[in-house]
Amino acid sequence: MSISVEEKIKFAIIYPLGLEDLGLDEIRLKFGEIEQPTTYPGVLEYHASPLLMLEMSLFLKIPTRILMRLDEYKVRDFPKLYNKITKYNWNRVICSEDVHIKVTNSKSRLIHSGRIEESIRKGLKKNFSDTPSKKKDFEKSKSFPIPTLHFNLKNDLMTVSIDISGTELFKRSRIYSSEAPLRENLAAALVFMSEAHKKKTILDPMAGSGTLLIEALGFNTLHTKKEQAWEAFPCFKAIIKSSISKELRLDSKINEVSAFEIDKKTYKALESNFNDKNYNEIKINLKLANSFEQNFGSSTELVLSNPPWGERVKIVGKKSDYFEKIINKYLTKHDLALILPRENHLPNEILKNAKIINIKSGGFPISLVYWKKQKS
Ligand SMILES: C[S@@+](CC[C@H](N)C(=O)[O-])C[C@H]1O[C@@H](n2cnc3c(N)ncnc32)[C@H](O)[C@@H]1O
Repeated sequence: MSISVEEKIKFAIIYPLGLEDLGLDEIRLKFGEIEQPTTYPGVLEYHASPLLMLEMSLFLKIPTRILMRLDEYKVRDFPKLYNKITKYNWNRVICSEDVHIKVTNSKSRLIHSGRIEESIRKGLKKNFSDTPSKKKDFEKSKSFPIPTLHFNLKNDLMTVSIDISGTELFKRSRIYSSEAPLRENLAAALVFMSEAHKKKTILDPMAGSGTLLIEALGFNTLHTKKEQAWEAFPCFKAIIKSSISKELRLDSKINEVSAFEIDKKTYKALESNFNDKNYNEIKINLKLANSFEQNFGSSTELVLSNPPWGERVKIVGKKSDYFEKIINKYLTKHDLALILPRENHLPNEILKNAKIINIKSGGFPISLVYWKKQKS
């Protein structure tokens, strides 16, 4: 039932729309040249060894999730679907029918996602009653995230996958949150795009709970703390997470990070997030303050921030004036990276000097914008 660590399996790495190319660059940086993926919007699909994919689930910071492809078949009626589910060897990946199920369907004869899920659940129940898991595997699985199965039906072709981590990969660094928390993988994307990990001193002047800085400090490390669903997959029994190579570390140059936050409650979250981690060799400067009134060392190489957009965190005046104020304060002395709404109304004159990646997160259009330091 175990899968050999060398055997190649099809995997799909899922990204927020627009981050596929940056995601591929992260893979190249951390794993070198690997087999060319097949790309779809928001997806890079590979044939790779399970070990490589599991390493990726610990080391890559930009993906949302990694799916292992399990099966693919044409299906046009419910009896066939039920039959396929009852016959599949589920015991190799899951240990009971207690799983999350996500169904997407388009251009197919089976159109009702609710009924598709019902049929799958019935099939799984029958499958596990005919061939129950080993008791030991079942007991172990209780300590790990409940697996999520993805059933994607398109043009009558069903693709069945399992999320190897169980919960989104971006749920990792932040324990205490803010009013408008930033998804960790978007923060990691800005970190990578602005090469924050290569700079010695970085600042977030509107830090919220500190996601950008924490992602910058963690960009080059393996994230082994989080429990992942694959640790309980019977087919990966032979792979022990703690033995996944420490050589996967990359050097980070950051030795000082600074943050300002104006809101008292959020500042507490920021402090707690840093206190909870061990940054022995890094100088951390946190200050409860209005960053527009603060001066700080010109040695800061990069300023990066996710400023308020006037939605959940209010701003006074026009959005574009507010963003320009931030840009004017920092850009003549430092590299600057911002996460902004796509509709930021900034003049072309300012945007033309920036590298911009337009993405969609939760359906919302966002821009990652990075300027190299400009002389005034
Ligand atoms: C969009 S939130 C940042 C969220 C952050 N990236 C996170 O993940 O928690 C913007 C933050 O900027 C803070 N802020 C707004 N104006 C500020 C100012 N002038 N100085 C310092 N902080 C400010 C707000 O209190 C808010 O916490």
